[in-house]
Amino acid sequence: MRAAQARNALQIPDRYDGTMVDSRVTYSLRAQEGLTEFIPGLKTPTLGINRSYLGPTLVLKRGNDVELTVQNALPEKTTLHWHGLHVPAKADGGPAQIIEPGGTWSPRFRIDQAAGTFWYHSHLLHKTGEQVYRGLAGMIILEDESTDRHSLPRDYGVDDIPLIVQDRRFNSDGSFDYIRSHRDVMTGLFGDRILVNGTLDAVFRPKTTRVRFRLLNAANARTFTFAFDDGRSFSQVATDGGLMEKPIACKSLILAPSERAEIVVEFNAKEPCTLISLPLPAGSQFATRGMMARMHSGNDERFDLLRIEPAATLKDSPEIPTVLAKIPRLNPSDAVTTRKLTLSMAMGMGMGRMGRMGRAGSGGGNFFINGQAMDMEVVNYRVKKDTVEIWEITNDSMMMHPFHIHHSQFQILDRNGKPPKADEKGLKDTVKIGPGETVRFIMRFETYADPNTAYMYHCHILEHEDNGMMGQFTVE
Ligand code: C2O
Ligand code: CU
Ligand code: CU
Repeated sequence: MRAAQARNALQIPDRYDGTMVDSRVTYSLRAQEGLTEFIPGLKTPTLGINRSYLGPTLVLKRGNDVELTVQNALPEKTTLHWHGLHVPAKADGGPAQIIEPGGTWSPRFRIDQAAGTFWYHSHLLHKTGEQVYRGLAGMIILEDESTDRHSLPRDYGVDDIPLIVQDRRFNSDGSFDYIRSHRDVMTGLFGDRILVNGTLDAVFRPKTTRVRFRLLNAANARTFTFAFDDGRSFSQVATDGGLMEKPIACKSLILAPSERAEIVVEFNAKEPCTLISLPLPAGSQFATRGMMARMHSGNDERFDLLRIEPAATLKDSPEIPTVLAKIPRLNPSDAVTTRKLTLSMAMGMGMGRMGRMGRAGSGGGNFFINGQAMDMEVVNYRVKKDTVEIWEITNDSMMMHPFHIHHSQFQILDRNGKPPKADEKGLKDTVKIGPGETVRFIMRFETYADPNTAYMYHCHILEHEDNGMMGQFTVE
């Protein structure tokens, strides 16, 4: 256990509501380099959006037409992807929507999906891991007609709190330590220090009896098992894509990279506690196995994430609603096809791009979907607009992969043939697939058609994505 730390007040990213220009809500974002003082007295070279590390919280409202102007002030290419948002392929910010240094990209689209917690991050081919690690990410809060109607905490920065959780490794001069070895690529990059909203050793001081936390696992590779050190239970109210049908009570919640959850926690005046990450439960289906486990046991460490010190008097919050949302269920008999994808990895040294320590290669790697590594020239699937499909994802490797698909939210049909548990019944865009597991989900592909621009699907362990575990599909 680390000795008691000096605590730093949890930073809250600025809330950014945009400005109305010609009936369009516009946001102006600038990807830039900066220096950030995470460790007192040391400056870490970082990347950020409108700030030195991470970016503002974009607040989007359903029904609005938006324009997001992204200016690239970096000396390198970048892209910015709106993770979880339903947008035209050209506006998606994937690896094809490159913004050159000095360039600007201004996608426009209409916000039309349920309220929830999303995020944005770099998606540059082969460089997503590095750019996100250095700071190119931020939260998105989407609001809809239900936002003001229900009684969930919604005072941003007061009782509605973003928690962007990341692990990092620092060099002694304060700089970030990214990929150092073959192992960092194979397991994905694991750090030994926790940043929450870019704050090391963070403390938050609630002023109300209930607080909503928007949990975003923005780590490159680490899975967090969120819990409280005193074992208190809390209510999960949202999954990746928005509110659940009803709150569920839980004592721990496992989120892999890019998964989100909204939770509501109750506090008593002057009774501190700590939000922690537990080791994955013994025997977890998501634990790393065999030869991979000898390389790195994965998610078996405990971390303090956020110290919580409630004020001496707390303002009463309303009860949380017992019914949250209606999620229309997609019917498997409406699916026009089932696509089968198998995730795999090769263990050998030196065969992949990063196996040669980062020197640019053909784009192949150690990581595959259906035996193939990501190739920008290959569109793996062509989906017909306004159809429903089932995707069946099998993990043929020794470690868990969080599988993410762009374009829409999906519903999990089953995990190894069994219906999903309560925390996986809501709308999702990322699903954990443990070693040997098969998960089926169902999704509707609607609204946008573009035969020439693809959406991505990939493992959200960013080192896996960067080294081949990604593919593309069009909706046409
Ligand atoms: Cu969070 Cu393809 O991305
Ligand atoms: Cu995405
Ligand atoms: Cu993976």
